[in-house]
Amino acid sequence: MRLLLPLILLVIGVYGLDNGLGRTPPMGWMSWTAFYCEIDCQKHPTGCINEQLYKDMADQLVSGGYDKLGYKSVHIDDCWSEMERDSNGVLVANKTRFPSGMKTLAKYMHDRGLKFGIYEDYGTKTCGGYPGSYKHERTDAQTFAAWDVDYLKLDGCNIDQAMMPIGYPLFEKELNATGRPIMYSCSWPAYLIDHPELVNYHLIGKYCNTWRNFDDINSSWKSIISIISYYDKNQDKHIPTHGPGRWHDPDMLVIGNKGITLDMSISQFTVWCIWSAPLIMSNDLRIIGDEFKGVLQNKEAIRINQDPLGIMGRLIKNSTDIATYVKQITPSKGDKKSFAFALLNRNEKKGYERVEILLSAIGLTDPAGYYIHDIWAHVDLGLLRPSDSIIVNIAPAGSSFFRADVASIHQPIGRRRYKLDNSNVVYEFEKSQAQFERPDLSDYLRTNRVPF
Ligand code: GLA
Repeated sequence: MRLLLPLILLVIGVYGLDNGLGRTPPMGWMSWTAFYCEIDCQKHPTGCINEQLYKDMADQLVSGGYDKLGYKSVHIDDCWSEMERDSNGVLVANKTRFPSGMKTLAKYMHDRGLKFGIYEDYGTKTCGGYPGSYKHERTDAQTFAAWDVDYLKLDGCNIDQAMMPIGYPLFEKELNATGRPIMYSCSWPAYLIDHPELVNYHLIGKYCNTWRNFDDINSSWKSIISIISYYDKNQDKHIPTHGPGRWHDPDMLVIGNKGITLDMSISQFTVWCIWSAPLIMSNDLRIIGDEFKGVLQNKEAIRINQDPLGIMGRLIKNSTDIATYVKQITPSKGDKKSFAFALLNRNEKKGYERVEILLSAIGLTDPAGYYIHDIWAHVDLGLLRPSDSIIVNIAPAGSSFFRADVASIHQPIGRRRYKLDNSNVVYEFEKSQAQFERPDLSDYLRTNRVPF
């Protein structure tokens, strides 16, 4: 035992951050991309950074049933503090906008079974110009722990790039020293975009539970696509360094915001789910349309995102407009593997794209076949063999998303069947522009169909 303890400590020391948090990608709501740094509560009484906004969103997570699906945390972003620390060097929540203080706000979340996230910056100031943590790391970590914070997003504005590998590990040490489990989101690699040679994700994953590594998202297709293409280009670096407890974060979900159509929403959700990326919404849950809520609450998509293997899906085929992603999921055993796969139509202007997917061509080669489920159409396609094909028509800026349970180790219980002559299948998004262009199941042109 005497020998064992130092050995255990050594192992923890070598393999780094093991606070047991974030075993599946975090899910919640964050203010930034919907409300930015709006601090004028006179002019924008229901849309400014104040305690009421976060209480409202907490209420929405619960009353809207988001929490039951996994969206458990409410995250404050920038612009929450006073411009100055107090005389002891402690951060103070803005007294007008957060009159009850952060500990009380944390309690509001905890009383509802939710988690409470806060924002700080490792530099001298936050990106919005509020006090940063540089040289106050211990005090701030202790302050957050005393406020019962569960998650910290630590930004990296206003600090020298060379300090990143020093500051982020230092803050992790201070957080651990508080004894409170606090999930730790670092923006470390996002500030080294111009120096990819300095980004070592194996190292970052030792200190951080999740990290931003690219530009801020905004509510536009251009922004979503720019993030996707950055991730596509860097997937060989990302995939092996992504998994339980250490997640690449492509930034918030902008579903439900002006400028994002239903097809775009389906696409962002599909890709974020197939990546096992954090699902942190930034929108106004008080006014979100039902169809967008339906996207955010698609249980099968969330199940892929939260799959315990935590594998980031890979782009395996790419053409001018269509990207095909495949991700291994459970149940899998040895070489019997289940998968999720998705096709994204990056082009938001051209018409529908008709694509044929031959299962064996995307790596689904188990001779016993796979039970295939269409995640957006909510249709079971039954058992398909590697030589079978599925034909999909993908809307502009839209996506198709499937799960494939390997038949040799998976027995489906009570799954819906469909009749080939059923020409009246009602799809979820019937009335929206995201209408699936599949008037009947003959759109799934398949060969060698084996019935259940
Ligand atoms: C940076 C981050 C954003 C947000 C703002 C706040 O830009 O990347 O997500 O937190 O700072 O100022």
